[in-house]
Amino acid sequence: MDVPADLLARLRDRLVTTGYTIDGVRERLGDVAAAALAREELVPAERATRDPDPLGALIRLWWLGLAVPERHLELPVAELAAAGLLRRDGDEVRAAVHLQPWETGGYLVSDRKVRPGDPALRPDHVVGAGGASANLASLVTRRPVESALDLGTGCGVQVLHLAGRAGRVTATDVNPRALRLARLSWALSGIEGVDARLGSGFDPVADERFDLVVSNPPFVISPRGRFTYRESGAAADDFCRDLVRDAPRHLNPGGYCQILANWLHVAGEDWRDRVGGWLAATGCDGWAVQRDVLDPAEYVELWLRDSAEQGTPAYRERYDEWLTWLESLGVTGIGFGWITLRDGGSLDPVVRVEELTTPVEQPVGAYVDEVLDAIVTAHRIGADELRHARLVTRPDVVEERIGPPGAEDPARIVLRQTGGLRRHARVGTVEAALAGVCDGELPLGALLAAIAELTGADPDETMARIDELRPLIAEGFFRIKEPANDR
Ligand SMILES: C[S@@+](CC[C@H](N)C(=O)[O-])C[C@H]1O[C@@H](n2cnc3c(N)ncnc32)[C@H](O)[C@@H]1O
Repeated sequence: MDVPADLLARLRDRLVTTGYTIDGVRERLGDVAAAALAREELVPAERATRDPDPLGALIRLWWLGLAVPERHLELPVAELAAAGLLRRDGDEVRAAVHLQPWETGGYLVSDRKVRPGDPALRPDHVVGAGGASANLASLVTRRPVESALDLGTGCGVQVLHLAGRAGRVTATDVNPRALRLARLSWALSGIEGVDARLGSGFDPVADERFDLVVSNPPFVISPRGRFTYRESGAAADDFCRDLVRDAPRHLNPGGYCQILANWLHVAGEDWRDRVGGWLAATGCDGWAVQRDVLDPAEYVELWLRDSAEQGTPAYRERYDEWLTWLESLGVTGIGFGWITLRDGGSLDPVVRVEELTTPVEQPVGAYVDEVLDAIVTAHRIGADELRHARLVTRPDVVEERIGPPGAEDPARIVLRQTGGLRRHARVGTVEAALAGVCDGELPLGALLAAIAELTGADPDETMARIDELRPLIAEGFFRIKEPANDR
């Protein structure tokens, strides 16, 4: 699919001027059909574009994959057909690829999502952008970088998000067809200079380092790597483990690696130890978050649905084979989540592994640096330094006091962040009092002494609670005002 640059420029121009943009499509379809389309349901959008105007015709052609009479299209059909992007069928035209606007303002070219009853997926299927793509894009740090690597670029969506934030972008994929379609995505999005390379894992960038490595990898854990777009063919969750293990060799000092991953929950092993072990072996500071966990049957169903295999003759057999294999590994569940590594160059790296399944403020990338800073500071600050540090309560923290009506003392006090990761922590009266007074003015030791005096508590015991503040600092309830050691 070698498409002349000037044809792509004219196509892009036509798409933009016709209003084939995220906002234009939403407005043209209306709220209900647009929301259905976001759920991958096509029928409402098909109904809404039955009498096609130029924009409706583009939606039917490129997004819904319908045959459109050539006379409805204000496109260079012959040239696009010669380039392999369209197929003529009598007076009608069909798209050979899925082409849709994306939230960054650009366009993505991929294969069409398969649906029940469609022919089987081609082995070199190029997956379009979806929830996981948006998830990773939202997680990635917003700090500008000189060099970035997108490993397993697929239709090229992460590059659309990196463009403008990264001086140089390298994108790799093991599937040559993915690189061909990704190049179309970038050209139609006006993105130039992406260094696209073919190969597996870090092979295509063997001796190179980057400020930022991102990957929405083929993380699906299955008995056989049947579909390259989601499965690597590596055993169990080894592909994600190896990505984490190898990433530090490709990071510049201070560099970030941010990936999505799946990991196994195995009987007799805490998943936190499994994932924590991956991160601890890197020597980087690390943060892993489990966002969701499925039981083995839910997992198999999800991915058989993704490849539209429900209702096919092979469904039962594949389901059974997959479950049998997971059972043989002692798998009790499969976790999905985010992994962030930062090469802090420390001899005392810190790793935090946690579960956060409730909605968080998006994009996480806007504050992921702060999250890591908090984890690292809480781990490294010495006891004496902490006593002299000036703390500031996170501005969006609220306090909840819960107890029997009319009771003088609450049974529980909870500090809750109303933004960011929306963490909450059950605390004692000392921590709650601190949250009310930490404004960065007085050192922590002086505040604790004053709280002891006010509450009549034992000053030594109150001071001994200082180490219990570390988890609250790690979770961002308190920030240490710089410089930490001004006494
Ligand atoms: C889940 S898709 C992600 C696509 C895109 N980056 C996104 O965020 O939506 C995974 C991509 O990894 C590619 N892939 C599969 N095995 C790979 C390997 N061993 N090395 C590099 N890429 C691989 C697939 O071809 C596919 O394009």
